[in-house]
Amino acid sequence: MCGIVGYVGKSHAKEKVIDGLKRLEYRGYDSAGIALPIDGRIQIRKHVGEIKNLEKIIGAPEFDSAVGIGHTRWATHGAPSDVNSHPHGNGDNSIAIVHNGIIENYQEIKEWLIRDYGVNFKSETDSEVIAHLIGIFYDGDLLEAVNKAVAEMRGAYAVCAIAAAEPDKIVAVRKDAPLVAGIGKGFNFIASDIPALLKYVRQVYLIENNETVVLTKDDIVIYNEEGRKVKRDVFNVTWDADAAEKEGYEHFMLKEIHEQPKGIFETLTRRINDDDSINLDGISMTKEDIEGFNKVYIVACGTAYHAGLVGKLVIEKMAKIPVEIDVASEFRYRDPFVDENTLFIGISQSGETLDTLAALREAKRKGARILSVVNVVGSSVARESDDVFYTWAGPEIAVASTKAYTTQLVCMYLLGLYMGRTKGTIDEAYYHKVLADLKALPDKVTALLKKEDDIAEIARKYHRREQVFFIGRGLDSGVSYEGSLKLKEISYINSFAIAAGELKHGTIALMEEETLVFALATQDFLYEKMVSNVEEIKARGARVIGVAKEGRTEIEKVADEVIYIPDCIDEVSPVLAVIPLQIFAYYVARERGCNIDKPKNLAKSVTVE
Ligand code: M6R
Repeated sequence: MCGIVGYVGKSHAKEKVIDGLKRLEYRGYDSAGIALPIDGRIQIRKHVGEIKNLEKIIGAPEFDSAVGIGHTRWATHGAPSDVNSHPHGNGDNSIAIVHNGIIENYQEIKEWLIRDYGVNFKSETDSEVIAHLIGIFYDGDLLEAVNKAVAEMRGAYAVCAIAAAEPDKIVAVRKDAPLVAGIGKGFNFIASDIPALLKYVRQVYLIENNETVVLTKDDIVIYNEEGRKVKRDVFNVTWDADAAEKEGYEHFMLKEIHEQPKGIFETLTRRINDDDSINLDGISMTKEDIEGFNKVYIVACGTAYHAGLVGKLVIEKMAKIPVEIDVASEFRYRDPFVDENTLFIGISQSGETLDTLAALREAKRKGARILSVVNVVGSSVARESDDVFYTWAGPEIAVASTKAYTTQLVCMYLLGLYMGRTKGTIDEAYYHKVLADLKALPDKVTALLKKEDDIAEIARKYHRREQVFFIGRGLDSGVSYEGSLKLKEISYINSFAIAAGELKHGTIALMEEETLVFALATQDFLYEKMVSNVEEIKARGARVIGVAKEGRTEIEKVADEVIYIPDCIDEVSPVLAVIPLQIFAYYVARERGCNIDKPKNLAKSVTVE
């Protein structure tokens, strides 16, 4: 995720900005850059890759100033590259900016600037338009120019700007992207996140939406949308740097569990138009292509594979096309039936998982059309695919994947709906029903997260168990696998998932007094069958934690505890059903004193075979 740091003081801006950027490294980034006003010109240096790459090109002592802005970039528009990195300058670098967020109408602005002002764009980013806009409006007053530029922009942004002609100040503005101003003595800071500032300041102003702020070394002045000065209370930061990175959460995993409503919202809204049609902008799949596919192959690893299990059922149901699914490490070695009429969907949070990448290459070699569902923009999987459907989960730091999974599910639904509508295999009423339930998910996940304490209580009760089963039918079966993986990878409990109807073919032999079983019963049309399955295991003495939709109370008669998820149509329930399982796994691991964010033997991205 992009990070912004700006410093205004008497000297040594470079060191402060770089230090602040390093404090934001944990969030993930693909390039970094810095801009400093030096001797009447703005000097910009930027480099793809880690901050240490940038440090190599800014080492000279004369490359320094009293003011500076810096940025770590998480690519959205345009691949990670030196030229796409921030800061961006206008034509003569009399203005430089750094930007977090997305300028939705950047194409429009770009065309206008090229047509009317002959602007020469260097990068593929949306952000560069901001520098040129400010440059065009600049007439000796940076604040005024920023305000005029902002009036032309739609979207979400936190922007910091500097002008060569006013080398003693930074002007910053925000809308739907965070910004904080750090209050120093004889210096001030601006940043996207508190951790960037904590080494130097403990007192900050939290900048609010549509506010503009002017920082000089002795002053921070905040203006509201109408241009009036605003008095802001000082916010005293009491967390240490480590806690601040986690925004007060004890672990990244918990933070990321709570970020799911946002990730789901972002992933949905970027693909749904005002008229409720789904846009696959940037994905070159035509109606003829979709009608020409005779098979879909979903391939992934771990949690991403579990998203694929749901995706298989959803795409088959909606697009009426056979979907095969495989774990990447198997697919690549078994000469799969894949040809030029196959749509290969690779799912990967990191986009760097070696097995998934190798499977993708194998499918490509056989002529398949490659569509990847990826979180990290510009990653290897994304680069090697014909098309990419990005999830908008933001950087996932905890090894245990949570928000990537739920956003991957959202992509599966959007793809299924798009393909089904294009092929005419779903009717309009069904399309709109599913879409309405998808759009309701961010609020429903938020409501479900309020049950965290109750679920934590259940986790405390059972955290000493050494064996846990997860069962479900239909879409719940896929979620069971994910619940089981979450628990085992962070708590080291031996957990096992199985389709509930399959229990009686062997696994029920393991059911005995007090065996703990999570029974997912969120599929209305399979509800009674699940209740029967629960009765069968209860008869063997098992302890059962049911997960059911609100209002489906029959399960209370057989389960020992029931966690209710908000009501929804069966299709979208996996996004909700997995949340209690994530929270349960988290609190069990916490009770057991495990290293939650970095479980033993595991890496976030498995780039080896
Ligand atoms: O980055 P990817 O989505 O390709 O990673 C795939 C798996 O390694 C990953 O999902 C793994 O299973 C997680 N630790 C699960 O929480």
